[in-house]
Amino acid sequence: MHLNIAILGGDGIGPEVIAQAVKCMQAVEENFGHDFTFTEGLIGASAMDKMGSPIPKETLELCRASDAILFGAIGTPEYDNNPDAKVRPEDGLLYLRKELDLFTNMRPIKVFRALLNNSPIKKEVIAGTDLVIYRELTSGIYFGEKSLSEDGTVATDLCRYTEKEIGRIAHMAFKAAKKRRGKLTLVDKAHVLETSRLWRKVVTNIAESYPEIEFDCMYIDNASMLMTLNPTCFDVILTSNMFGDILSAQCNVLIGSSGLLPSASVGTENAMFEPIHGSYPQAKGKDIANPVAAILSAALLLNHFGLTEEFDAVVAAVHKSFRKKIVTMDIMGSTKYGTESVGDFIAQNIVDVDDNLNINDENIGLGRSTII
Ligand code: IPM
Ligand code: MG
Repeated sequence: MHLNIAILGGDGIGPEVIAQAVKCMQAVEENFGHDFTFTEGLIGASAMDKMGSPIPKETLELCRASDAILFGAIGTPEYDNNPDAKVRPEDGLLYLRKELDLFTNMRPIKVFRALLNNSPIKKEVIAGTDLVIYRELTSGIYFGEKSLSEDGTVATDLCRYTEKEIGRIAHMAFKAAKKRRGKLTLVDKAHVLETSRLWRKVVTNIAESYPEIEFDCMYIDNASMLMTLNPTCFDVILTSNMFGDILSAQCNVLIGSSGLLPSASVGTENAMFEPIHGSYPQAKGKDIANPVAAILSAALLLNHFGLTEEFDAVVAAVHKSFRKKIVTMDIMGSTKYGTESVGDFIAQNIVDVDDNLNINDENIGLGRSTII
């Protein structure tokens, strides 16, 4: 398959973890006979420094012309610590999500067996956790009108949703539930927020066309507690932009590191793949950042184009790195491996199991299951 992929490393550790993801995609290209073209673009603070905008028009054009985008991370302390900044690195990412209409953000969370002891939560509680958050990504409080009074003492952010915006992601989430364990939980704050009441009304109506799906609704505060107390009770979670952001960050804790979770943001024309973690500026250039979330985001990209065996092969190589303890310091403090060497190991272990049955015996039996 030929794919044009836009590479947006962004800020902080973004470029270094994305470099490992590209390395892994090149291994897939070689082992499975594909043809991927990678073209880099600027976004975020690095784009502001070089081009004066967090999302230069060249980057937008590159993204539109590509089959998919692989995105790293965004944000720097100098803007984080400056509430008066008129333009921020994050504006680049938000603009891209909105402009490309990437309304469905999927965040799969599956606890890795080899890392069960890494979680601060008891392993009996998290074992078997396998859920996916469907987060609405182009509307809600992130994109509503904002205001700040002239004297700077009063601010507002409007949370606005339309029936159409809710309906289109709801269908995506119900369809996903059909292919999974058949359960969908709408997470909202319907006892307080009008937008949540609209979500409940629209999604409850849509649920009628999916009678085979077990559908329930849960308040966000309750969902947040259950995510720690009993995460295996979730299958598909459907939620708004802000709640999805927070709940998925909580999942980073469950699985034991912020460096592990990938995501896919999909619209009708474009698709972008990005790790859930932030730009972790303190680690930039130190070769300590975990590349796994970026590598698994590349795996989701492959899966998006129907390359399921390739997806399985990348996931199997990631699992092998865990089993062999070829991991970064967020997973094992005493490790001697860094971003690059973990990336190298995973890339070297991506094999087409059909062609390599006798060579890489450890992958046999692993490669066929959809692990995340
Ligand atoms: C995420 C991030 C972004 C968000 C930031 C960087 C704007 O936290 O993708 O989870 O809030 O959506
Ligand atoms: Mg977030």
